[in-house]
Amino acid sequence: MLVTLAQRPDLAEAVYAIPYPPDSPRFMAGSLTSLLVRGRRVARRWPHLVVALLEGDEPVARGIMVPFRSRSPFPARGWDEVVVWAAEDALDGVDPDTACALEIAVHPDHLGRGHSRTVLEGMRQAVAAAGLGSLVIPVRPPDKASVPLMSMSSYVARTRPDGLPVDRWLRTHVRAGGRICGVAPCSATVQAPLSDWRRWTGLPFDRPGPVEVPGALAPVLVSSDYAVYVEANVWVSHAVPGFSR
Ligand SMILES: CC(C)(COP(=O)(O)OP(=O)(O)OC[C@H]1O[C@@H](n2cnc3c(N)ncnc32)[C@H](O)[C@@H]1OP(=O)(O)O)[C@@H](O)C(=O)NCCC(=O)NCCS
Repeated sequence: MLVTLAQRPDLAEAVYAIPYPPDSPRFMAGSLTSLLVRGRRVARRWPHLVVALLEGDEPVARGIMVPFRSRSPFPARGWDEVVVWAAEDALDGVDPDTACALEIAVHPDHLGRGHSRTVLEGMRQAVAAAGLGSLVIPVRPPDKASVPLMSMSSYVARTRPDGLPVDRWLRTHVRAGGRICGVAPCSATVQAPLSDWRRWTGLPFDRPGPVEVPGALAPVLVSSDYAVYVEANVWVSHAVPGFSR
């Protein structure tokens, strides 16, 4: 059963307790932009845009979205830019016209059952119910981590013999009716002192230049006493029931 936290506020704690996928890299927690939407902030302000899939009364998957007024269809700074826009609009009282999914997580014990696609459907319904005409997602294709030196545009073009993307998560989106609309070349950024990078990764970070880090979609760029990670994501648009795309 699909619900939003506006319908079931009592489930907020259990919904947020669903852990991230086991292969999620720790260093993404260093994103400064993510501080704007961390914890229950989105759930408190936009509970109608936090979707949960229940088995019985237990949340097994969640989808978190923010609303914003679109400035350009698919901004180059992807996830980071949309989070800033959503925060700006909330502070300024600007009416949104678009929803952006920030995160979809399936409980590790419930993977492989198609739950992510069900959550995507719930998100489309929640966006329609909110009267927003567009749902966009800066998708992080996790399997890109196996080819960190490849450009994201080349990676997106990789398809299987059946024509679907090689990447499991992009494939799930396309199967669910999502349309790939372009690459956000600098969607998520993490800049931090080398001590943080050593703690997150266990790697020495002892010389300047690019470093390949497990789970990273691109190399981390090391300078004398800090390192920067710039991650490209893939813009995907999903149809919203009752609105044309
Ligand atoms: C992999 C993932 C899509 C599985 O979700 P799910 O609902 O359990 O997936 P499904 O059962 O519908 O499987 C979707 C496809 O992924 C494949 N898949 C699932 N787990 C996989 C894994 N660990 N490795 C490789 N492929 C995997 C499935 O075989 C299926 O492929 P198919 O299209 O050939 O049938 C999901 O867990 C995931 O990792 N999503 C990324 C979420 C994420 O990164 N969120 C945080 C940022 S938004």
